[in-house]
Amino acid sequence: MPDNSVRLGYVGCGFVAQRIHIPNFCALPDCHLLALAEVRGDLGQHVARHYAIPKVYRSHEEIATDPDIEAVGVSAPYSLQGRIAEDLLRAGKHVFMEKPMAVSLERAESIVRAAHEGNSRLMVGYMKRYDPGNVLLKQHLSGWRQSGACGRIVLARNHGFGGNWVYGQDPNIPFEQSSEPAPPSPEDCPAWLPEKWRGPYLNYLQQWTHNINLLRFLLDDASGQAKVASVLLDGDGMTGMTVLDIGGVRAVVESAYTRFHAWEEHTQVYFEGGWLRTQAPALMHKESSATVEIYRAASGGDPPRLTQEYAAPGWSYREEAKHFLACLRSGQPFRSSGEDTLTDVRLYEDIYRAFLGM
Ligand SMILES: NC(=O)c1ccc[n+]([C@@H]2O[C@H](COP(=O)([O-])OP(=O)(O)OC[C@H]3O[C@@H](n4cnc5c(N)ncnc54)[C@H](O)[C@@H]3O)[C@@H](O)[C@H]2O)c1
Repeated sequence: MPDNSVRLGYVGCGFVAQRIHIPNFCALPDCHLLALAEVRGDLGQHVARHYAIPKVYRSHEEIATDPDIEAVGVSAPYSLQGRIAEDLLRAGKHVFMEKPMAVSLERAESIVRAAHEGNSRLMVGYMKRYDPGNVLLKQHLSGWRQSGACGRIVLARNHGFGGNWVYGQDPNIPFEQSSEPAPPSPEDCPAWLPEKWRGPYLNYLQQWTHNINLLRFLLDDASGQAKVASVLLDGDGMTGMTVLDIGGVRAVVESAYTRFHAWEEHTQVYFEGGWLRTQAPALMHKESSATVEIYRAASGGDPPRLTQEYAAPGWSYREEAKHFLACLRSGQPFRSSGEDTLTDVRLYEDIYRAFLGM
């Protein structure tokens, strides 16, 4: 192990852990995965054996008090993973956690406070911000905004129609099962949300929080000023359109689950004199990144032009893991920090308040 390797623990050995994060962290040279915590003991043992991880615990509290561990990855049920992250942060461990950070603003604020108390740092796994194609689009977008060459932004939109999110996954990665049933987990929904809307609320936020977070990244909402302009969702609380105001730009999130065979998502930013667009890859395809299309309207005697660019291939989930490790060592801020994520949590509460007219 190189001297400077991050000494990592990981909590939760479910699908995302086994198919994405544990293999990724194990493959990175500047990381040493030393411990797992999984409430279903047999599952933790199987996964640890497969990746030669020396310590296996049943509870995250044991990782929180393990002096060999400096940082922890967490993926567990929606509400529970925020509580786990909060305990770890308060104990002084740096945390990389899956989205959602929390399902209520109250809990999200408490998590961010725990990081301050523990003098620790939190990154949330909004992997779309690390897709090299989205990063390339943002570079072009920032250039166009600065130069003003294509005029002002008229509209930004993200079209997220779902499909098969595991299309393209590597079938050779082993998937261990447990003989124990998964334990029940808490629901920390906002107190004001009527009980019958909890399911649709969780369903909406767990998916389209990614899309909202990506639009905020592209449109530079670092100060967290984004607001909800209008919400047009069907009675399922999910299908339709949400309009945000992000720094004065109208940003539309188009949401639905369709039976598309792969992953149906693109993001487009329209200027007066052109547009920029990324097409998301199949999410679990390890060699792909989003493709970028650039259209410039005719100008100064030049004809209209449509070009396609490819960023270096790079799996967004692998890139986010690299970013976490690099920022821990460099002290640079995370591109998707806990503080930044407070805005996402506030927005999904606001979206549902608007939807329900509350
Ligand atoms: N970024 C993405 O694209 C993406 C995709 C899918 C899921 N996710 C997120 O990842 C998280 C996990 O999803 P999943 O599909 O892996 O779920 P999962 O149910 O397969 O895995 C969760 C694991 O956590 C374990 N667990 C439960 N309570 C625990 C505790 N107290 N201590 C330790 N372990 C505990 C369970 O036994 C289970 O093995 C979810 O919050 C989800 O939002 C993100």
